[in-house]
Amino acid sequence: MLRVDGLSVGTRHTGLLHDVSFQICRGERVGLIGESGSGKSLTALAVMGLLPEGLAATGDVRLSARTPATRNLLDLPERDLARLRGDGLSMVFQEPMTALNPTMRVGDQVAEVMLIHRTQPSRGAVRRRVVELLEQVDLPDPAHLARSYPHELSGGQRQRVVLAIALANDPALLICDEPTTALDVTVQATVLDLVVRGVEERDAAMLFITHDLGVVATVCERVLVMYGGRIVEAGPVQDVFGDPRHRYTQGLVAASDLTGAEGRRERAALPTIPGSVPPAGRFPDGCVFRTRCTHADEVCRTQPPWVPRGEHPAGETAYGHACVHPAGGYGDE
Ligand SMILES: Nc1ncnc2c1ncn2[C@@H]1O[C@H](COP(=O)(O)OP(=O)(O)OP(=O)(O)O)[C@@H](O)[C@H]1O
Ligand code: SF4
Ligand SMILES: [Mg+2]
Repeated sequence: MLRVDGLSVGTRHTGLLHDVSFQICRGERVGLIGESGSGKSLTALAVMGLLPEGLAATGDVRLSARTPATRNLLDLPERDLARLRGDGLSMVFQEPMTALNPTMRVGDQVAEVMLIHRTQPSRGAVRRRVVELLEQVDLPDPAHLARSYPHELSGGQRQRVVLAIALANDPALLICDEPTTALDVTVQATVLDLVVRGVEERDAAMLFITHDLGVVATVCERVLVMYGGRIVEAGPVQDVFGDPRHRYTQGLVAASDLTGAEGRRERAALPTIPGSVPPAGRFPDGCVFRTRCTHADEVCRTQPPWVPRGEHPAGETAYGHACVHPAGGYGDE
């Protein structure tokens, strides 16, 4: 349903995303993981046509829902993109306060997306739908709450409103960028459940960005692993987490508290990936991970040894790569 081919993003001087390719099927839930600065948010923003000023994208992004798949979203005029956002595509950001207008009642903000996109037959239908949507995200006394301003709500309640807005027009694809990170731990799980319920009820696809591999394991069917603005490994969650091929993925899995054979481990006892993510534009040639990989040697400098990890479930093109360096990846352990 979404097909991203050879997406590259950069400033005039620095490449930030390099040849990013992936696909998402109708109703599929795909996780996007990687350390801070790996390019997750830029990928989401490029797909949404919301890149900050000064950044340009090349490549091919096609959404077969709501638009003819023959059109590359990167070439669409802003007017058409705006129509698509909140209708075919919508996004939930990390910080709910930045997504809401502080001077407008929350009910009016939910109503606005339906009015702009004319997805309800009348103003009365919009009003009823606002209450219904606020109810769906488990907000108490929705008719009354709709009249509140964002500052009168808790962080968790605000994020529920943002979710109601994102789901208002039944998007075909919901992109969530760390939607629960800014919330108290106690409300994170509840909001996550609402996100999953919202996409399931609509049979919508989801791209879910997070640092939390445990959440990906619970919520997603497939996962994309990103480092240095590239996808370094991709595949079904069970395969990638159960048998990570790329050294970077192996590091992420080892550093997470996914329940393994030895059970849940203490966070403090988890090994970390050595070194830190280089600044944008300072990643090495060859294998992008080689400055931090304990198995790197000359081969990784000149000829990154990649092979496809598997076929996309839709039977289309190969969608992931894995390190098959003789001293790394698989076969040596
Ligand atoms: N407007 C910009 N101009 C220049 N560089 C940028 C811009 N926005 C992001 N970058 C750089 O692009 C790289 C990827 O950023 P991105 O925000 O996509 O990372 P991320 O994976 O979402 O990280 P995090 O987990 O911290 O949210 C980073 O090195 C970042 O500094
Ligand atoms: S062994 Fe080489 S190719 Fe494999 S992850 Fe390490 S640096 Fe990259
Ligand atoms: Mg980000």
